[in-house]
Amino acid sequence: MTTHTAPPTAPPASASLLTELNLGKDRFLDVVDLAQQLKDARRQQRERPMLRSRNIALVFQKASTRTRCAFEVAAADQGAHTTYLGPDGTHLGHEESIADTARVLGHLYDGIAFRGFAQETIEEMARHAGVPVWNALSDDWHPTQMLADVLTIREAFPDRRRVSWAYLGDGRNNVARSILVTGAMLGMDVRIGSPLALQPPRTVQTLAAELAQSSGGGAWVTDDPVGSVAGADVVYTDTWVSMGEPDSAWDERVPMLRPYRVTCDLMAMTGKPDSRFMHCLPATHDDRTDLGRRVLDRYGLFGAEVSDDVFNADTSLVFQQAANRMHTIKAVLVSSLT
Ligand code: CP
Ligand code: NVA
Repeated sequence: MTTHTAPPTAPPASASLLTELNLGKDRFLDVVDLAQQLKDARRQQRERPMLRSRNIALVFQKASTRTRCAFEVAAADQGAHTTYLGPDGTHLGHEESIADTARVLGHLYDGIAFRGFAQETIEEMARHAGVPVWNALSDDWHPTQMLADVLTIREAFPDRRRVSWAYLGDGRNNVARSILVTGAMLGMDVRIGSPLALQPPRTVQTLAAELAQSSGGGAWVTDDPVGSVAGADVVYTDTWVSMGEPDSAWDERVPMLRPYRVTCDLMAMTGKPDSRFMHCLPATHDDRTDLGRRVLDRYGLFGAEVSDDVFNADTSLVFQQAANRMHTIKAVLVSSLT
């Protein structure tokens, strides 16, 4: 006997976005194209709502500014409703399993955005929901960030045939893994510069090498910060300690990652006057946050992974990236639910 039936109108769960690989190169680029069209339509005040009467659950087990707001605004623009379920206030994980929660939400909602810890949790959610599940960040991957980043790179370098994309910092984290795999899948020249102890897992490196071979791109991992940015069009970094890691990790990370800090000197090492800086945000670039003050007091650094001048330079794309989160997430919703 079947114990769970999906609502009859539900789109296939195959419309889920759990990692970048669910899309593959062509669909990934189709979603970026759609995001560009939706962005233009919104700017010209000719956007048509295509998701009227749709309901979307936003299940976030970690903090978020951009991703949550991007889902909410994208859904509202398209006529859909959202419910936000934050880290506290639900039964998820305490009194109710992921599977049961997914089955309940799958009967009430047309799609679920999920931000959590282990990738396996989001995959379990997708197995049981019966509606599309979109990965709003896990410990391993951040696919919606990649869609925004690729749109931003395309806007910055519309004519460049093969963009060279360098990431410096914690190479094991979600953003670094996603950049390595996405860049390789799309035929870019992607490099990760991280100390040996913080490089992406071997399985992810092998996957990226295979993807690069079939796309004609390149995927490199090195512990040489200068070598990793030579010739790069884009220099990207992320926080040195990710959500879910203990605060005490800063004591070990700062000495390890200090040589990989993105400064004006490092940007100059690209050898390209038009190279751009990117960061998924939030960034520690000054002393105007609790974390920034702690980094200054404890380690004598004004800004951690990026210096304030690089962050605020004209060549910094960080706020364009943040805006593109909304347009690309809207494209994910529209392409999954229509
Ligand atoms: N870049 C990103 O995912 O930001 P939030 O954590 O604010 O959603
Ligand atoms: N690596 C970061 C990304 C935040 C958007 C984290 O997981 O905290």
